[in-house]
Amino acid sequence: MNQRVLTGITTTGTPHLGNYVGAIRPAIAASREPGVESFFFLADYHALIKCDDPARIARSRLEIAATWLAAGLDTERVTFYAQSDIPEITELNWLLTCVTAKGQMNRAHAYKASVDANEAKGAEPDDGVTMGLFCYPVLMAADILMFNAHRVPVGRDQVQHIEMARDVAQRFNHLYGQGRELFVLPEAEIEESVATLPGLDGRKMSKSYDNTVPLFEGGAKGLKDAIARVVTDSRLPGEPKDPDSAHLVTLHDAFADAATREAFRRDLIAGLGWGDAKQRVVELIEAHVGPMRAAYAELMAHPERIEDVLQVGADKARRTATPFIKELRQAVGLRQMVAVAQPVAKVADDKAALPTIKQYREADGLFYFKLTTHQGALLLQSTGLADGREAGNWVRRLKTEGDAALAEAPVARAEGVSADTVSAALAALAEATRVADAEKADKAAKAAQA
Ligand code: TRP
Repeated sequence: MNQRVLTGITTTGTPHLGNYVGAIRPAIAASREPGVESFFFLADYHALIKCDDPARIARSRLEIAATWLAAGLDTERVTFYAQSDIPEITELNWLLTCVTAKGQMNRAHAYKASVDANEAKGAEPDDGVTMGLFCYPVLMAADILMFNAHRVPVGRDQVQHIEMARDVAQRFNHLYGQGRELFVLPEAEIEESVATLPGLDGRKMSKSYDNTVPLFEGGAKGLKDAIARVVTDSRLPGEPKDPDSAHLVTLHDAFADAATREAFRRDLIAGLGWGDAKQRVVELIEAHVGPMRAAYAELMAHPERIEDVLQVGADKARRTATPFIKELRQAVGLRQMVAVAQPVAKVADDKAALPTIKQYREADGLFYFKLTTHQGALLLQSTGLADGREAGNWVRRLKTEGDAALAEAPVARAEGVSADTVSAALAALAEATRVADAEKADKAAKAAQA
């Protein structure tokens, strides 16, 4: 069977060179591998958690979609859609919310970080925390489980969310699967070989450090100006440089083949000036990014083309999501009324018709027990036992093992009662005990989880 790989891109901000090297390029490369079925989507509901500026949300959705398409995403192979175009995801979000332990959400890193920050500045713990932020991991679980993804490529900061998705899936399977695995348990996939790209100052390239190199913004000039600002040491042209301590080299290597990397190091050691070195890096990146930038500009000038691509992707995604959510609604009991009425009535009848075992003590000081039909007709009668616990044990064994315990039990059948009648009564009792025990265990598990 194909491996399903799924990942979401939160639509806040404009992609920079670090996003391209760290996420976009490897994801697109992985989607071309044989035996892989990829689902990539704009996590635009997640974006609403972080941003309440509609214009920025709209702009980022457009830019991110255009970037992935310009970078060579093959939408014939990959199902590419916007999360907000799949209403089944919000529906599943609720089904999952109802089986998610609040205590587990309290431990989610993103929420805890907000609480810690509030406490540090002496504010109320939940100051500024929305239910969106608090429930972020449940929505993410819905994204993943909706398509039964096997593998989820994410950054390290997201691993906890994938583990939470696994837990929720497991719990749902246990509660509603009736022995069937409704959801695949997803695995986080951290791409170890993809180095995080350093920014201008050498720290990880990130908008929050204000050290990014733009991917398309500002054109070729924007790229050139950014690379000019990459921090280097103060060695002059002619002086030997140390390639291992220069993050300019890391930027270079992200776009170079082995021979080009080797030549760059050799020339730096031989005294290549930083200005010339930067010029080479600009040319190298521009050769890679330039053609994509042209495709990007073309797409940005025709947003309706992007919309079309996303709508085709949403249709494709919903061919999986629509039948699956129907199945899940069935599983939790949101069914056609007709199908519900009968089993409920039957269960009630069964309960009323259940035989019973009673334990009691007689005037002779001995302990007895007896099995009667639900109408009180005697089926089995025990002999008198000196030890009350022994009598209790037999009752328990007959209730759980049924017929199997009968041969050794100190009992006799009542007059005129057949062995078959007793067997049937004990079997019904054992089944009812099994169901009741399972319910008890489930309640205990629920309590333990909460
Ligand atoms: N939370 C992810 C991030 O910030 C984005 C995301 C949303 C996601 N839903 C997802 C990633 C589902 C993988 C799978 O990076």
